[in-house]
Amino acid sequence: MLGEQDGVWGQEAIRDEAQVPAYKLPAVLVDAAGQPITDAAAWERQRGVLLEQFTTEMFGRRPSTPYEVGYETEELTADAASGVRFKQVTMTVSTEHGPTGRQSQRWRLLLILPPSDQPVPVFLGLNFQGNHTVCEHPGVALPEGWVRRHEFPGGQEHRAAEEMRGTAQHRWPWRMITEQGFGVATMYYGDIDADEDDQFAGGVHQLLRDPADPSADWASISAWAWGLSRALDYLETDSAVNAKQVAVLGHSRLGKTALWAGATDPRFAAIISNNSGCGGAALHRRRFGETVARINQVFPHWFNARFKTYNDREDQIPFDQHQLIACLSPRPVYVASASEDLWADPRGEFLSVLHAAPVYQLYGEEGFGLTEFPPVNSPCFTRLGYHLRSGPHEILEYDWQQFLSHARQHGLGQPLTNE
Ligand code: GCU
Repeated sequence: MLGEQDGVWGQEAIRDEAQVPAYKLPAVLVDAAGQPITDAAAWERQRGVLLEQFTTEMFGRRPSTPYEVGYETEELTADAASGVRFKQVTMTVSTEHGPTGRQSQRWRLLLILPPSDQPVPVFLGLNFQGNHTVCEHPGVALPEGWVRRHEFPGGQEHRAAEEMRGTAQHRWPWRMITEQGFGVATMYYGDIDADEDDQFAGGVHQLLRDPADPSADWASISAWAWGLSRALDYLETDSAVNAKQVAVLGHSRLGKTALWAGATDPRFAAIISNNSGCGGAALHRRRFGETVARINQVFPHWFNARFKTYNDREDQIPFDQHQLIACLSPRPVYVASASEDLWADPRGEFLSVLHAAPVYQLYGEEGFGLTEFPPVNSPCFTRLGYHLRSGPHEILEYDWQQFLSHARQHGLGQPLTNE
């Protein structure tokens, strides 16, 4: 697992603004025929063109194999002091048409819900180490399959461990979130697909992807994003949740995933990218920090085969990541960067938001309240929101506080209307 946080920078990586090459971004308000886009209807057509390009050139196409999902819910003991509820949902994804004969796969979704007699808005995101790391609740099950390597002595390689229970609570400040009336829903990303280069032989790829069908070149980020949509399918059936107010969020590679989930599933009411960097909110053409060549080399399973043809050819990609943000319009989007996270190119993340803003204005929305890269810890809460937190590549309580404020300011947590 290479990256800045592991102390590994490619020798060639740019970390100084003066070294950023001259580049020209694809214009966000020009359509495929080179015509200016002047209204939302024309933009909607362009969104379709862009989503198709992001699919074929980067994330890969989802297989059309039919599948079913069954749910089994289990109410765990509530937190005695606060009344916060914990619900564990086992999702069984199955198919009778799988290309490799495998029939089903089991995922677990954890819901942490404030006591409420109304359906609550929810932040939905994948976690890195298992649902049992998100809180200390003893009833939360450990993942059964592959997990990332453990950092504590004696941890078995790639097996979930009881010792990890509660260790990611700083990333999921569920007490603060539930006190503010929001719920948290989270699923372990490795339940959907292991984060390793297995030639798509495992996880949901094994279940649904036909190796003989080259048009289904679904890669891991796209599979994880699809898993988020399946979690939202469940949330739509749960009367404790206001499924019209589900914000999808993620940190780092899972921030890239949240952006793609939001782009491909219009049911997500808001989208939050935390330190998502290359392949997420950062502009490819700047080549600052992690580059296309580098991400494809170290994480070949994240994007499809065609994306590798853009190694060191960023200028040839038919789009850049500001257009991925634009594809989320007109929904509220919040992008968070961290000042020490140069690997993820904070300025490039900011510029994506800035260059997506004209699309929001087509919908009569205020767009983005910033024109210059802001100082640290000065959040902007316009419909396109942004902050540069001081400190490292992480998702911390500070970030969540801003996500909560932004969500509230853009209608999440407002009572349901009878439309
Ligand atoms: C590495 C990788 C990044 C990714 C990050 C993470 O640093 O290069 O693209 O965002 O890991 O997911 O933590």
